[in-house]
Amino acid sequence: MAEWTDVCALDDIEEEDVVRFDHGERTFAVYRSPDGEVFATDGLCTHEQVHLADGLVLDDTIECPMHNGRFNYKTGAALRTPACVALGTYPARIVGGRVQIEL
Ligand code: FES
Repeated sequence: MAEWTDVCALDDIEEEDVVRFDHGERTFAVYRSPDGEVFATDGLCTHEQVHLADGLVLDDTIECPMHNGRFNYKTGAALRTPACVALGTYPARIVGGRVQIEL
């Protein structure tokens, strides 16, 4: 059975932006797309373990703040070197104005 974890209020994430979410020993990046949907990926870049929430969201991509590697945050796919290993992705949803992710 799915276990949903509360992240924050939807209003805490601007459209086309990302926030960091730490849970237990793990860290995630939670995105709000330009059309208002929410998504979640691993929080650290697969290149050198930098927090992606410090990066830049452009449409459906996240650009790493360290070396400008890019990922599609909807699929996790690595799009631009030096990032070449995909991110893990997690289901995300909006319930009653709150953002939740399934871990
Ligand atoms: S740490 Fe993200 S591209 Fe290098």
